[in-house]
Amino acid sequence: MAFPKGFLWGGATAANQCEGAYIIDGKGLNTSDVMTAGSATKERVNTREVKEGLYYPSHKAVDHYGHFKEDIALFAEMGFKAYRMSINWARIFPNVDDETPNEAGLKHYDEVFDECRKYGIEPVVTISHYETPLALTEKHGSWTSRKAVDLFVKYCETIFNRYKGKVKYWLTFNEINCMSMNPWMSGGVLQEDEQSKMQAAYHQFLASAKAVKLGHKIDPEFKIGMMYGGLFSHPNSCDPEDIEANTEFMNKMLFYCDVMCRGYYPAYKVKEFERSNIVLSKEAGDEEILKEGTVDFISFSYYFTLVAGKNTKLAMDCGSLDTGYSNPHLKKSDWGWTIDPKGLRHALNLLYDRYQKPLMIVENGLGAADTVEEDGSIHDPYRIDYLRAHIEEMKKAVEIDGIPLLGYTTWGCIDIVSAGTGEMKKRYGMIYIDVDDEGNGTFARSRKDSFYWYKKVIESNGEDLA
Ligand code: BG6
Repeated sequence: MAFPKGFLWGGATAANQCEGAYIIDGKGLNTSDVMTAGSATKERVNTREVKEGLYYPSHKAVDHYGHFKEDIALFAEMGFKAYRMSINWARIFPNVDDETPNEAGLKHYDEVFDECRKYGIEPVVTISHYETPLALTEKHGSWTSRKAVDLFVKYCETIFNRYKGKVKYWLTFNEINCMSMNPWMSGGVLQEDEQSKMQAAYHQFLASAKAVKLGHKIDPEFKIGMMYGGLFSHPNSCDPEDIEANTEFMNKMLFYCDVMCRGYYPAYKVKEFERSNIVLSKEAGDEEILKEGTVDFISFSYYFTLVAGKNTKLAMDCGSLDTGYSNPHLKKSDWGWTIDPKGLRHALNLLYDRYQKPLMIVENGLGAADTVEEDGSIHDPYRIDYLRAHIEEMKKAVEIDGIPLLGYTTWGCIDIVSAGTGEMKKRYGMIYIDVDDEGNGTFARSRKDSFYWYKKVIESNGEDLA
């Protein structure tokens, strides 16, 4: 058997993309609550005032807040061992700097974790997943300010103390390297210049390191990981210049892992800062904090691979990344993301070789439009094919390469709002939710073919992928 006993098979969501209930039970606004969508364009409105005629997907999302018991029961039916989800920071500290936390928010997640435990499902909790309290941006300029570190640590202290015994696995920041591409979505940072983004990332590193230290003190059983947004690129050719450029491109992303896993800035980043006149504002003692707060494991998302070479330019458009190169060997999803299962084995090896820390794949899946048949069934062989091919490669990484892999949670086990485009029709789930791009629908849940397929995969601990 390739996968160890206790391997964490499951699914993943993020609060802002599934909960809805955006101002219920004392919740404050977060950055995603002021973003609108109706089509493939996701816009930042960035004002508290709700504008008529615009659709704000996070406001209703798929109402997981109201349906969490039903959803978790469906996860249990599929045999989930783990559910990766996130806590919405603004449910706990609505104004970010509140003296005391919002009890209704804390109680909600108590209920969610109790429900998971009832079925023996291990929660894997992202502390900040693209849901920065809007007040952090308005009052402090978000992560560009050192104040954010203290506020985040207070939030961590609150949830660590409250949920110890119920939660063991924590991830500090979702796709932390997204700060380089989309600082607003990533951490409520409005500035886009390199100096601001790097200062914001520095503060997140400090906040994460402090959280790791504090978490271990509160409960030595805690396993606190980082979450890397799976950007992996192949060199465009064997031209040494392409290879060199690809290494440089990967280092721009992997530097986030370097700091969080090794506890210091890598030499190439220090030199890059010198060349670009980037000077980080630091305080005495910071170096020790980074060193003492390295993560216990690395989690990452994996959807596609990119190609980089001597003319790489990284642009982001509607949740899609463009390096200026394409890969003629790979097919693409309907949203233009390459499909590269072998790249997953490569990614697992790359991360393990570089850091020798346990790994967890916390997002993987295919965003696709689904059709509901007249009898209510949903046939999604494309999703099954995608997942099967990736699990096969993950299996090789464990069985042949000996990678210590803790678990695998597919993205959007229930259909949820797309982070990149704000659409509902870009669906990842094995559980269909009847709601469209404008928030119309019954919100009823139904099982897709992939639901039954994944159930078999989990039952057989990854042996039966047919
Ligand atoms: C990851 C994010 O980047 O990719 C998720 O952590 C996101 O929040 C997922 O939903 C898929 O991206 P999208 O744009 O298809 O929702």
